[in-house]
Amino acid sequence: MTDPDPQDPAASRPRYEDETAERLVAPAALRNAGPIAGMLKDVLAGERGPLLEIGSGPGQHAVAGAEALPAMTWIPSDPDPLHIRSIRAWREHEGLPNLAEPIRLDATEDWPAALALTHGPLQAVFCANVIHIAPWRVAEGLFAGAARALGEGGRAILYGPFLLAEGTAPSNLAFHRTLQERDPAWGVRPLADVVALAALHGMTLETRIEMPANNLALVFRR
Ligand SMILES: C[S@@+](CC[C@H](N)C(=O)[O-])C[C@H]1O[C@@H](n2cnc3c(N)ncnc32)[C@H](O)[C@@H]1O
Repeated sequence: MTDPDPQDPAASRPRYEDETAERLVAPAALRNAGPIAGMLKDVLAGERGPLLEIGSGPGQHAVAGAEALPAMTWIPSDPDPLHIRSIRAWREHEGLPNLAEPIRLDATEDWPAALALTHGPLQAVFCANVIHIAPWRVAEGLFAGAARALGEGGRAILYGPFLLAEGTAPSNLAFHRTLQERDPAWGVRPLADVVALAALHGMTLETRIEMPANNLALVFRR
């Protein structure tokens, strides 16, 4: 299958939906927010409680996800103040009662401590398209934190492209090369490395879901 997502990062840079309202739109999220929200609705059917999204970006998945999971509280987060401003603007625009105020969160920092004070144990952690556009320590911080912040049986759900032992889609290999040219610490991650990292933190790959454009959703259980 040909990847319809533009793999040139410049082509997928967020733009303003409405400059006065400060809402940003990531072109890729216009295409994948629907399938991702549908996947989360299936995976988290019947769940209640808080879901933390790490690296929410402009906030489109937060809106679609909160809409799809009305019994959960969706907590968006990002380290980038511009994204926090955009998420806040989307939140005000959409008025979803279960979409919480966005929080400044860097996955490499000790985020579970602060979060536990405000929201208690999490039911789920969701993270889309972050660990390949960031150094590996972000993936490490994500799983180390998830293992502490999730309640027993809670799930960490990752979405994005991965390098596969059985063969990686050419579009994802090209994307990997583009990322590494931009920053050698970035790159599409081998699925086996992500599974091994999760295991280090007591988390097991429960489900692997094929998503459009050669992406995967990975569901890890604590
Ligand atoms: C490609 S964007 C993905 C945004 C959104 N999740 C999506 O799929 O449209 C990557 C996001 O990761 C965030 N990010 C980068 N470093 C991070 C870190 N150390 N901790 C948490 N998020 C980070 C960026 O600010 C950015 O919003």
